[in-house]
Amino acid sequence: MEVNAVSSAKLTKIISEDKEYLFQNYGERLPVAFIKGDGSYLYDQDNRKYIDLFSGIAVSALGYSHPAFQKAIHGQVDRIIHSSNWFLNPEQIEAAKLISESSFPGKTLFVNSGTEANEAAIKLARRYGLGINKRKYKIVTFTGSFNGRTFGAMSATAQEKIREGFGPVVPGFIYVPFNDKKAFRKVMRGSKNIAAVMLELIQGEGGINVADQDFVREVFDTCNQNGVLTIVDEVQTGIGRTGKTFVHQHFGVTPDVLTLAKGLAGGVPVGAIHAKNFLTEFLPRGTHGTTFGGNHLACAAAAAVLKEIKKKQFSAGVTSASEYIFDRLKKTMQKTRFIKGLRGIGLLIGIELAEEGFDLVKEALAEYLVINCTAGNIIRIMPPLNI
Ligand SMILES: Cc1ncc(COP(=O)(O)O)c(C=O)c1O
Repeated sequence: MEVNAVSSAKLTKIISEDKEYLFQNYGERLPVAFIKGDGSYLYDQDNRKYIDLFSGIAVSALGYSHPAFQKAIHGQVDRIIHSSNWFLNPEQIEAAKLISESSFPGKTLFVNSGTEANEAAIKLARRYGLGINKRKYKIVTFTGSFNGRTFGAMSATAQEKIREGFGPVVPGFIYVPFNDKKAFRKVMRGSKNIAAVMLELIQGEGGINVADQDFVREVFDTCNQNGVLTIVDEVQTGIGRTGKTFVHQHFGVTPDVLTLAKGLAGGVPVGAIHAKNFLTEFLPRGTHGTTFGGNHLACAAAAAVLKEIKKKQFSAGVTSASEYIFDRLKKTMQKTRFIKGLRGIGLLIGIELAEEGFDLVKEALAEYLVINCTAGNIIRIMPPLNI
């Protein structure tokens, strides 16, 4: 990265003020401040152009400055941003309708993030189970999962490093090895006390671990036969990321509850829980709520994204971009021992390296390419969906 004296002074100031004024809970940030975007390109503090293969952790689904998306949010900002959930909200209704049409008939509750969507799903599952018997409150999750950082979502997350140092977590979660049918079957013998199974069909933060088709079949059949709810966390996999609107559609299963966030409103903060109709009675008046959740702006943005990804040529674009990237990666893989494996679906791609990957992220950035590394050695490629 050629950095001239003026730009480096500007960057040095930003870095020093970051340290002075902000919590350092992300460790050292990558030394770039993006100030604008266009399509799949980002521009830094000195107007240098980068190719974005990260989309802000799978958030900027339509890239940057997308005309229909911009128009929808500009229009909404000019009319009204927020009124609260005490009032009817046509933008919420429109976004919820689009979610129902593209997943399964049901009702949607809007919140502010993926974590919060999972909190709502956990609360709903507990009330559902406890309505059947007073010990039916347990929730099964799988090793390598990531569901968020609040106490409930963190307790659901079956990765010790996420829970470390916080003392007792929320009880009632059972962690089962991912993709292990035998272990799952064993745990489900106690299913009369299990309210729900919650899973990602591709574990994103856990390293782009794709669920086996027969494992998913086993989970859904067992849950459906035993009155155990299925909750699919599609915070990272949803909203067109895999070439279908939702990853569960690749597996031929329909969950009882779907949790969403990230790409849902293309960068405007929003989360959602979408549940089959019979479940909505378990979160009646007074049991859950949020001040900001699903405000006019967030839902106008969500509706704009959902309308765009519904278009046939949109998902065809995701699939062909995915094929292109996988094809190039496979060819590269044959020429190097540095890549140990490739995995993922659509534009959620993991490149398993033979060593830790964070230095590669920094090297790529110096070549004006934005990528990410998760789980130590997995390079994560998740560009804007219309790249
Ligand atoms: C699968 C999954 N669930 C939940 C979350 C938490 O979402 P948020 O960061 O919006 O709270 C994430 C975030 O990475 C995620 O990947």
